[in-house]
Amino acid sequence: MNMISVDSLRFRYEEGEEQPDSTVVLDGVDLTIPRGQFIALLGHNGCGKSTLAKHFNALLLPLGGAVLIKGVSTADEDKRYDIRSTVGMVLQNPDNQLVSTIVEEDVAFGPENLGVDPAEIRERVDAALKAVGMYEYRGHAAHKLSGGQKQRVAIAGVLAMQPECIVLDEPTAMLDPRGRKEVIDTICRLNREQGITIVLITHYMEEAVLADRVVVMENGKVVVDGTPHEVFSKVDTLRELELDVPQPTELCYALRQVGIDLPNNVLTIDECVEALSALL
Ligand SMILES: Nc1ncnc2c1ncn2[C@@H]1O[C@H](COP(=O)(O)OP(=O)(O)OP(=O)(O)O)[C@@H](O)[C@H]1O
Ligand SMILES: [Mg+2]
Repeated sequence: MNMISVDSLRFRYEEGEEQPDSTVVLDGVDLTIPRGQFIALLGHNGCGKSTLAKHFNALLLPLGGAVLIKGVSTADEDKRYDIRSTVGMVLQNPDNQLVSTIVEEDVAFGPENLGVDPAEIRERVDAALKAVGMYEYRGHAAHKLSGGQKQRVAIAGVLAMQPECIVLDEPTAMLDPRGRKEVIDTICRLNREQGITIVLITHYMEEAVLADRVVVMENGKVVVDGTPHEVFSKVDTLRELELDVPQPTELCYALRQVGIDLPNNVLTIDECVEALSALL
């Protein structure tokens, strides 16, 4: 069964300051995400990524079309609790997501609200903190942690609610390179080891190459969809969509432009080194 299926989704915000003419923000999005898949969602500023993500746990509801979570429509009010326990959300700013002063209390907040039994909360909190590599910090003051550590605690808070899918909206945007790596390693591990479905919205192409699948949006529609190798081999298309490509891809592309015979599907530094050393 699919984790998420989006069928002809249309959405616009109410007219207001941000949206004086209330133009359509999602203009017929079709997207199916199987269980256990790790997808990266890309697209330039304002193309509708966050708006789409908010439909995945019923924070926003379709004006047209439908969003199904494990086959259940987000428009079904009786199922909203199930949908929100199935799909967890992690946002950009870790400071806005921490609710308690002590790390383990923060992680316990979600399951406490779900009415989980205290003994089970203890187990879930410990397991979640171990899964993100923050167990040793369980008694620490949350505000004193680094950005990457805070974001991992925020992920633990979502994990403690035992979601089957986690949607992360630019979780690394406010982090330094080390914090980014901590968070991305954690996301990859949760996908690989626990089979959690991951939707990662990012502007970092080196993060997108780690996904099983890359989906690119433009003007409220899905315009490119494929494996990282398929998507990033379309350098010209991505440039037209105002997106970057990973640096190793960019280097090989530039060398190909001047007539050097290199493959067009290089994504990682290792692949780039291999392609270049084959030439030398
Ligand atoms: N709460 C809101 N009210 C009115 N309009 C909004 C609201 N949130 C977003 N919009 C508008 O909807 C469009 C899509 O915004 P959205 O935040 O989904 O884009 P995005 O792809 O996530 O962009 P970014 O990469 O900058 O995060 C934009 O034109 C934006 O101005
Ligand atoms: Mg956004």
